[in-house]
Amino acid sequence: MKPKVYITRKLSDDIIRYISNYCDVRMWQEEDTPVPREILKEEIKEIDGLFSLLTDSIDCYLIDQAKNLKVVSNMAVGYNNIDSDYAMKKGIAVTNTPGVLTETTADLTFALLMAAARRINEAEFFLRDGNWKTWSPMLLTGQDIYGATIGIIGLGRIGQAVARRARGFDMKVVYHNRRRLLDAEKTWNVEYKELEELLQVSDYICVMTPFTPETKDLISFNEFSLMKNNAILINTSRGGIVNEEALYEALVTKKIWGAGLDVFEEEPLNVDHPLLTLPNVVLTPHIGSASIQTRLKMAKLAADNMIDVLQGRDNRYVVNDVSL
Ligand code: GLV
Ligand code: GLV
Repeated sequence: MKPKVYITRKLSDDIIRYISNYCDVRMWQEEDTPVPREILKEEIKEIDGLFSLLTDSIDCYLIDQAKNLKVVSNMAVGYNNIDSDYAMKKGIAVTNTPGVLTETTADLTFALLMAAARRINEAEFFLRDGNWKTWSPMLLTGQDIYGATIGIIGLGRIGQAVARRARGFDMKVVYHNRRRLLDAEKTWNVEYKELEELLQVSDYICVMTPFTPETKDLISFNEFSLMKNNAILINTSRGGIVNEEALYEALVTKKIWGAGLDVFEEEPLNVDHPLLTLPNVVLTPHIGSASIQTRLKMAKLAADNMIDVLQGRDNRYVVNDVSL
């Protein structure tokens, strides 16, 4: 008998067909609405594998409903939506999809950096609204990117891919990481700094760490107070790492110059959110990895991770050590 799996969002027919070769598939049939918790609570009871998205909160209560669950395969690199420690205690593997989205997410990080620095969105609205009367010496002037210093907080795969892009733009690259990465320093010509110093010297600050209890509110009032007045903060990792109240205050009081954000404390971002009243913020709806090619790769990798575990094969994307 094939193992039973549940997929928490409608995926493409190709990937469903692929998974169906190995598994007995049930799926939430909507593409743009997350599965209601009540339904997931029922579905999880009998399944062997769960294919989840970052919008599903797989907490200990939900995990406790499962009788046969062996794997939760998250179609994302981040897995803070899953209580992976609790899953580990229950012998349930949790897998993620790193690697395939690295370059795509670094591209969006750079796109936000450039859009915020050169006021691209503001300029486009200006034009579309019919405000373009003439060329003016200081009209819509922004910040230079070339020659500036970029501070990368979290030099993982995506952080290194951003560093590489920054080097191509003739930027000076500094980084902070839990531990120093001597090889990466040499390879990408980047310099390690303590967090405080990074915040003081950087023109661009990119938040690239996973969201954990340690990184919650990593960038808050005190951190903004250390930044340069021309600093631009970019966050494409997870919302809770940057305290939004502190960010809003830093932007309104011109403590910093601008921000580019793809992730928020609460998603979807409420349209009444104060950040939306500010012209010096560029906002996107959590689309870091959203290229057609990469999303297809992530779905395939998440499917393979789930199938591997269900078939008893080793899988290198297990993030919690269930063998302990
Ligand atoms: C997206 O945010 C991911 O973690 O893959
Ligand atoms: C994510 O893949 C990271 O390590 O940056």
